[in-house]
Amino acid sequence: MGKCPQCNQWNTLVEDVLVEEKKALQKVSRDVSPMPFSSIDSVGFIRKRCGIDELDRVLGGGMVEGSFVLVGGDPGIGKSTIMLQMAHRIAGPDSKVLYVSGEESGPQIKIRGDRLGAVSDDILIYPEVLLERIQEQIKALRPDLVIIDSIQSVFSSQIDSPPGSMSQIRHGAGVLMEIAKGGNTTVFIIGHVTKDGWIAGPKMLEHMVDTVLYFEGDNTGAFRILRAVKNRFGTTGEIGVFEMKSAGLQEVRDPSALFINSMGGDMPGSSVMATIEGTRAFVVEVQSLVSKTSFSMPRRISIGPDLSRLTVLLAVMEKRAGIYLSQSDVVLNIAGGIKVNEPALDLPVVMAVASSALDKPMPKGFVCIGEIGLNGELRPVGQMESRVREAMRMGFTDVMIPRLGMDSMQDIKGVRLVAFCHIKDALEVIL
Ligand code: TYD
Ligand code: MG
Repeated sequence: MGKCPQCNQWNTLVEDVLVEEKKALQKVSRDVSPMPFSSIDSVGFIRKRCGIDELDRVLGGGMVEGSFVLVGGDPGIGKSTIMLQMAHRIAGPDSKVLYVSGEESGPQIKIRGDRLGAVSDDILIYPEVLLERIQEQIKALRPDLVIIDSIQSVFSSQIDSPPGSMSQIRHGAGVLMEIAKGGNTTVFIIGHVTKDGWIAGPKMLEHMVDTVLYFEGDNTGAFRILRAVKNRFGTTGEIGVFEMKSAGLQEVRDPSALFINSMGGDMPGSSVMATIEGTRAFVVEVQSLVSKTSFSMPRRISIGPDLSRLTVLLAVMEKRAGIYLSQSDVVLNIAGGIKVNEPALDLPVVMAVASSALDKPMPKGFVCIGEIGLNGELRPVGQMESRVREAMRMGFTDVMIPRLGMDSMQDIKGVRLVAFCHIKDALEVIL
């Protein structure tokens, strides 16, 4: 079949030889038998910090020896760069690193290494794609850290499918997982997220690995966000913020400063919120543009936040606050390319949309935090205090919060808390 009957796309079918794969996997599985629960040693994990704080934080406080980590992201976003920078920090006389690259030749990696100042004799560069040879070298060299750049380029002679196909990727990852689980070798694999979706991409490896890190941010801008979406050795949702400079990815120590352009008070259609990512609070700017539609069905565009949530909020604004947008196109965006999707975004979205619709800016120095119910009521969200403190630290003077969450914040001084029960009252702030 040339065309997939399910997604109607041409030439997307990939051969997946299941029998062969089973045989191949049997060869690598270890001999273990069931054991009583209490007889298992609960030895602590050994963590190694690489000294790039933003990366260590995302990993849950450093990389765990013997763990299996997937680093995903669009091509060109900086996966190879961060891995080489990490390799350089980890490498030392008693910490060998093997960097397997099927994507680039030795000289190409050298050019990058020179730019990054990451050339070291304790990093062994191995431009190879054949899985069996990679396995052999790992066995012979016993490195502490192996980086596979990328899993899509790795190829096993035991599997008939072409490189990059589902069975090749799954088999390659299976073998590498055994290597990580069987010893003290930490394995990082890089996986490209391909434009046409997730088939044969990192998504299908998520269940096999201990930790999944994804790079976000558009690769035309300089900022990159590294997010842990799964972590068996730490919290998820933690993010690291980097800036791509001429000498590689630099850590951004104060991300709040990056995501806001102004303190408000001048431009309609913008509001500021304080969001929580992992253990940190950030201040981000929500932008909206409301304009008269020229279509029979008005358009709703959301760059980042969930589109169906925007639709719900627009309905609530219409029904509960009398702001009619059925003749308007509504665009929503979060400045800086960071993805925020949490209930606390409701109130800032409503304020930004209303501010653009009414063409009146939010007052200067205002931050909004709060979830909105279907009746237009404001509800408190988690970690209010850290959000308010971050807003305060960034110099905001007023924080708009739900009345219900007010009591827990009695001891916050230095910022004015403006509490409301309903969006109708909250919108008075703009009016
Ligand atoms: P790269 O790490 O190769 O991306 P990936 O492995 O995810 O495909 O690099 C991404 C981009 O970063 C590349 O287009 C060039 C740019 N770059 C810099 O701006 N500065 C640098 O020091 C390096 C190494 C790369
Ligand atoms: Mg690369």
